[in-house]
Amino acid sequence: MSRLLVTGGAGFIGSNFVHHVLDHTDHHVTVLDALTYAGNRASLEGLPEDRFAFEHGDITDAELVDRLVGEADAVVHYAAESHNDNSLDNPRPFLDTNIIGTYTLLEAARKHETRFHHISTDEVYGDLELDDPERFSESTPYNPSSPYSSTKAGSDLLVRAWVRSFGVQATISNCSNNYGPFQHVEKFIPRQITNVIRGIRPKLYGAGENVRDWIHADDHSSAVLTILDRGQIGETYLIGADGEKNNKDVVEQILTTMGQPADAYDHVTDRAGHDLRYAIDSTRLRTELGWQPQYQDFEAGLGATIDWYRENEAWWAPAKDATEAFYASKGQ
Ligand code: NAD
Ligand code: TYD
Repeated sequence: MSRLLVTGGAGFIGSNFVHHVLDHTDHHVTVLDALTYAGNRASLEGLPEDRFAFEHGDITDAELVDRLVGEADAVVHYAAESHNDNSLDNPRPFLDTNIIGTYTLLEAARKHETRFHHISTDEVYGDLELDDPERFSESTPYNPSSPYSSTKAGSDLLVRAWVRSFGVQATISNCSNNYGPFQHVEKFIPRQITNVIRGIRPKLYGAGENVRDWIHADDHSSAVLTILDRGQIGETYLIGADGEKNNKDVVEQILTTMGQPADAYDHVTDRAGHDLRYAIDSTRLRTELGWQPQYQDFEAGLGATIDWYRENEAWWAPAKDATEAFYASKGQ
């Protein structure tokens, strides 16, 4: 049995990972989370007390991080400021958490010689043309567009440098857009689902032609566990499930699944610097480490996600009004 320290475990993907680990392994999990606006303690309710602990704190707190990393066999680092629109409004927290926070964790992993897995995004590669036959792979050059993606790119480069210069036992994964339960209502899919539940028309940025490569959060979790088990130290693995869809198609699918006319949405002000298309080639992870996604039917996964938001209004309702007020102030 291993003791995992999961940073950002009260966020969307981190909480899905904690549930996945406790359901599928005998590892013990300690979550370190600052419970920012994006963290929700309720996402971690009902977990077995003998295998789960929660530490409320900041990944930039070197003393706390040193103690917790010293007690762990491995660190899985999800904590981040994660939303592009917020990074355009106020980039500073992105630098603090994504850069300084990752640096703080790396220094502790170096001191204690602790295995480290860094969670990152395909957005570090910039974007693709709609008709580009190539997808992102491990050898695609970094070309981030936003304050969010540039700070994630910076954090990836710190990890690589700490491997090479100090021998830190680290791996990195860059995953495409996730969907599933426990995602904050600021993000595209939960925003539109909860808009429909509230009787608000979904909001599509620009023409809605932008493409994202959707993967269920549970598949992201199984891929991370695979890399923790069998990944080669110092290597990067791209995680994706061949789920490319444009935003217009996703909104229409949400509307029809929820019993509304497919065109009952509004076009709103586009995002500044809006990346056109992301697409992942996950051949390496599949062939070298033998990973396969389980959720290959996007319509079914989206349907289950819609049901989850219908059944868990108490989880998302407290954040909904403030989120919509923020978007309204920007014409979105
Ligand atoms: P999220 O915003 O839902 O959760 C982030 C969590 O980190 C929250 O619980 C928050 O409280 C915590 N946190 C933030 N700053 C902290 C700090 N300074 N100290 C401690 N905890 C802090 O994010 P998410 O969507 O779950 O993303 C998790 C990770 O996955 C991020 O590293 C992100 O870059 C990456 N990622 C996300 C996606 C996606 O589709 N959402 C895709 C690929 C990669
Ligand atoms: P988002 O969930 O913010 O993820 P990311 O920016 O990391 O890809 O957005 C996904 C896509 O949906 C992106 O192209 C922006 C678009 N979008 C909308 O069209 N309307 C919205 O209300 C939001 C939040 C996003």
